[in-house]
Parts: sequence; structure tokens; C-alpha cells
Amino acid sequence: MALLTQAIKGTQDTLPKDSYKIRFVEQTIAEIAANFGFKEIRTPVFEHTELFNRSVGDTTDVVQKEMYTFDDKGGRSITLRPEGTAGAMRAFLEHGLFNEPLPQKVFYQTSCYRYEKPQAGRLREFHQFGVECFGTDSPAADAEIISLASEIFGFLGVKDLELQINSIGCPTCRAEYQNALKSYFASRKDELCGTCLDRLDRNPMRILDCKSPVCSEIAKGAPTVLEFLCDECKAHFDMVQKYLKVMNIDFVVNPTIVRGLDYYTKTVFEFVSQGIGSQGTVCGGGRYDGLAEELGGNHVPSLGFAMGMERLMLVLEAQGIELPPEEKCNLYIAPAGENASLKAAELVTALRQEGIYALFDTVGRGIKAQMKYANKIGAEYVVVLGDNEIESGKVELKNMESGKVTEMSLATFADDFSGVSIQQSVAKLSDEFSSSDLSNVDLSAILGGSF
Ligand code: HAM
Repeated sequence: MALLTQAIKGTQDTLPKDSYKIRFVEQTIAEIAANFGFKEIRTPVFEHTELFNRSVGDTTDVVQKEMYTFDDKGGRSITLRPEGTAGAMRAFLEHGLFNEPLPQKVFYQTSCYRYEKPQAGRLREFHQFGVECFGTDSPAADAEIISLASEIFGFLGVKDLELQINSIGCPTCRAEYQNALKSYFASRKDELCGTCLDRLDRNPMRILDCKSPVCSEIAKGAPTVLEFLCDECKAHFDMVQKYLKVMNIDFVVNPTIVRGLDYYTKTVFEFVSQGIGSQGTVCGGGRYDGLAEELGGNHVPSLGFAMGMERLMLVLEAQGIELPPEEKCNLYIAPAGENASLKAAELVTALRQEGIYALFDTVGRGIKAQMKYANKIGAEYVVVLGDNEIESGKVELKNMESGKVTEMSLATFADDFSGVSIQQSVAKLSDEFSSSDLSNVDLSAILGGSF
């Protein structure tokens, strides 16, 4: 019966002890992207298989080996998205966003699906934060999206990432490069895997990112694309580097980066970590000037990147980066008896409307067990509510950290407690500022909306 209680290989649950951290990171990233003019786009989790065949490319590992493809009940071939660019471009074309002011800048935070061999940092269901910028061929845009990724890592305090950039040229200069690759790989033909033999004629560049150990060893000696760039691609790449320099972004040129997807042209880049094992590429992207035409649209030079959220979280953990703590229960009301429970329900309703994180007993525990529970969940304040309190109209508010007890009137409790809670949040906030690495953390993220 393990099937019923075990998640599918390569997938993982995010439990409450971790989900608040991911939510903080996602929210922070979305806010930084908004400062760069990126707005959220949401597209379906599945698309026509043909969309990925045409965009990602039917000689890539992703399309040939890794897609979750099935026929739906209407006999259509459907694929769970292996990445976010194809769907975003499809939506851009379908909704005529090319008629809006360009560039159109979108971001997404989505799940993706690839049937890969699971290992640390490599899952079959994973999550990407991605951005796409449609409608500009300027190298300034290449540098801008790289600077967005860099800004995100910098804000989160990530230290050891290396930015590697390359240019893989345009269809004109690529043709010559493909020929050089073809001759190189043809000389080692007998050693290539079956898939790469097929790629030798159709798309020899894809042999460069084959995951088979023999093919990847042979690929190390292959000619690199930079030697073949045409004047325009070379000038574009030089300009990107000039922009990066004035933006104070460190980078290295790595001529072996080709990326595993077919749509790329000109600039490609990766942010690589040495600290999380072999799956160290936390973010990858580049230009894809021909994709819109490939899908039947006009020429729309575009570019983007995606970062793997699971890999980013691994990096944050490996570097011991502290994120703001989980929001704690502000007030726990411990009722004794049915009347008190009804009063507690009334009070928490009013408090929650004030934005306070308030709980009361919904299990039927005795007072002692309730106090133990309140302690366990780290409640900041506790109020015990019995018939005596209801009769006298007075309750004792206990600060669980200091043990200090304050008498409060039941009639004005919700309003009075809101005041106490705001004071507590402000005190906490000034502590956060003096002790945190994340010196300009968003107020609402820390206060959980209680302001
Ligand atoms: P990609 O390099 O295939 O590019 O994936 C981007 C990032 O997603 C990787 O750098 C990695 O962090 C994460 N990732 C990929 N596969 C897995 C996996 N199996 N498990 C965990 N994380 C993974 C793209 O997807 C392009 N669409 C990026 C892009 C956007 N280019 C232009 N615009």
C-alpha cells in the first residue's frame, strides 16, 4: 500500500516548516522583478506537445527523453510544461501582446516537469522563477535581465555564484559552426550514443549537452562557437559585456556554454554554484530572437532566464543564509467550558478582522493542555477565559516570553489588544533591522500583514 502514502519519485512535498521560507523568497523575487518592470503571467501547466517540439527543439534531451507527454481523452497529444518560455511566447502571440508597447516584460513562478534521473537539485517536478522580455534586440536588454538575476541573488545574500556568459551566434554564423562540429564528431562517430548519432546530421550542437558520460567526454574537445561568430553577433556580445561592466556585474566568458534548448541565439548565460553538488546551475537563460517566427509569428527578438527554486533554496541553506522567521501566533485564547468557548470564538473573529493572528481551542483540551499547546506553537500572548472572567468582564493577558501579566477589560479587548500587538511588532522590527543580513526586508513580509 506504499503507493498510497508515498509521493512519486522525483517529486517532493513542501511542508509548513519550509513553505513560509519559499513564500518569502518568491515574494521578494517578485517585488524585485516588479522594480525592473516585469509583470506576472500565468499560463496553463499543459500545452500542445507540438509547441515544445518546435520551441525547445525535437533533437534536445528535454524533448527526446524527458517530457511528460500523453494523449488526452479527445486524442490530442498534450505535454506537461518542461519549462516556461514556450508557453509565455505562445500566450504573447495568441493575445497579440506584440501590439502593446514593447518590450513586454513578464515573469512567472511555476512548476515544470522533466523525466530526469532524480538526484540532489534535480527533480521531475520542480519550480522555476522565470522572466521573459519580448520585443528588443538591444544588448542593453541582455545586460538588464542578467542584472535582475544578479540583484535577486545579491539581495538574498547569496555569495558564491559565478556568472558565466557566452554567445552562440545567429543562424548565419551557426551554420558554419555546425559544419565544424559535424566534422569533429564524425571523426569519433563509433563512440557516440544512438541518440547523438541521429543528432550528428540533424543538430550536432545538441551532442554538446548529451548527459551520457562518453559523449560528454568527447564533447570536451569540440570546437567552440566563439571562433565562428559573425561581425554583428560579435559586436552584440562585446556590447553586452560593456553594459555588464558599467553595472558592476562580475562575469567570466565560458565558450562551452551552449544551453540545452534549441531556441537560443546570441547571448546565453548561467549562474553556477560550486556549493550544492553536480546540479550547480541555479539560473540559466539567454536570447531567442527566432522563436516567435518559429511559432508562426512575426520577428520578435526576445530573451529571458529561469532560476530553479529548489536549487536556489539549496544554495541559501548551504550558505547558512537566514530568512525572516515564521510568523508566530499573536494571541492564544484558552477557554474553559462552553460559554467561554463561545466568547473566545467571538473574540478571535474580531481580532482576526484587525489582522491579528489569533487562535482559540478547537480541540476540547483542558486548560493545562491548552497552555502546553500555546507554549509549543510559540504563542506570544495567552488569555485564559472562564466563567469568572466572563462574569467580572476582566481578563489577564500573559506575555509568554516575559511572563508579565496585564489586566484588560473584556468589553474593549479586541481594540486594546490590537494596540499591544502593534507595539510588539514595532519592537520586533527594530530588532530585525539591527540583527539581520537582509537589511532592507519588506515590512509586510516580517509583520505578516498585521500592519
Ligand atoms: P533551463 O536551463 O532548462 O532553462 O532551466 C532553468 C533552470 O531551472 C536551471 O538552471 C535549474 O536551476 C532549473 N532546473 C532545470 N531542470 C531542473 C530539474 N530537473 N530539477 C530542478 N531544477 C531544474 C529553461 O528552462 C529556460 N526556459 C530558461 C529561459 C527563460 N531562457 C530564456 N527564458
